[in-house]
Amino acid sequence: MQNAIYNAYFGFKENPFNISPDPEFLYRSPQHEEALANLTYGVRSRRGFIVLTGEVGTGKTTMLECLRDVLDAQRTEFAFIFNSRLTPDQFFEMMAYDFDLKCDRKSKTDVLFALNNLLLEQAHRNRTCVLIVDEAHNLEWEVLEEIRLLGNLENRQGKLLQIILSGQPELDRKLDAPNLRQLKQRVVLRCTLNPLTPEETAAYVGTRMARAGMPNQRVFSPEMLEEIHHRARGIPRVINLLCDNLLVTAFAMEQRTATEEMLDEVCQDLRLDWPGSARDRRGRGRYETADEPYPHVSLPGRGD
Ligand SMILES: Nc1ncnc2c1ncn2[C@@H]1O[C@H](COP(=O)(O)OP(=O)(O)O)[C@@H](O)[C@H]1O
Ligand SMILES: [Mg+2]
Repeated sequence: MQNAIYNAYFGFKENPFNISPDPEFLYRSPQHEEALANLTYGVRSRRGFIVLTGEVGTGKTTMLECLRDVLDAQRTEFAFIFNSRLTPDQFFEMMAYDFDLKCDRKSKTDVLFALNNLLLEQAHRNRTCVLIVDEAHNLEWEVLEEIRLLGNLENRQGKLLQIILSGQPELDRKLDAPNLRQLKQRVVLRCTLNPLTPEETAAYVGTRMARAGMPNQRVFSPEMLEEIHHRARGIPRVINLLCDNLLVTAFAMEQRTATEEMLDEVCQDLRLDWPGSARDRRGRGRYETADEPYPHVSLPGRGD
């Protein structure tokens, strides 16, 4: 991981506002806590489909990464598919790779056969398996249909494969389509991530700064945090972006605290738009277009 240029200046051991969904930097807001509890409970109860939705940047992938840690610790077998723009064939191939199935991964029949064996073998040891699909709102209908069929595999103890679909709110609308009614009926658990409240934003920033090596941070005053919250609309990804840029600016100006002028400059550079901003009043700003709802930094190797 690259070190932020301001780390030494502020005395950080690590970048406080790295954009990657790193569980080490987890801020446990009540809703994030609840989402994680629901995901782990859903898997344990072996009843089938779980759906996690939330706007871009609210923390869905971060929650899935936390779940991955939980599953690793329990030695539960899982496949994590984060590139959802797949054909059905590619989907089976990816799943075979991730479950490490020993078979011809390009043959759907072989993959299904090997998967079934894995599921039965795990069930015999009283364990379940999990399929996690991130960015599931992008899934093709055909792939969703295959996933629905995978959800049918069961024995007397319950479903053999627990399936978690995570995505933007369109996912819910997609599941409302008549051809997916059967899948929708089988969703046993739903979690939604909402933007943070102003208090949570302050705690979120504090947690990240502390984790990076600055307990009781003073760079952002309570008023600044309120303004950051307002402009980021409580979305963690945008909060990270603003705070990171503010730290860069403060460092460049050899200042220890972030000011409103700095925030204005950062927002202008990012062409950020928030309720009541000049750009908002003039019309749609850059981050208000349908294709790019929020500042977006792609992660290497990840499909979001
Ligand atoms: N509860 C949280 N604790 C710490 N960081 C978070 C939390 N929720 C979101 N983030 C941060 O916000 C950014 C976006 O989160 P991400 O999980 O990628 O959102 P999504 O998958 O919903 O688009 C990431 O940098 C992530 O680290
Ligand atoms: Mg994501």
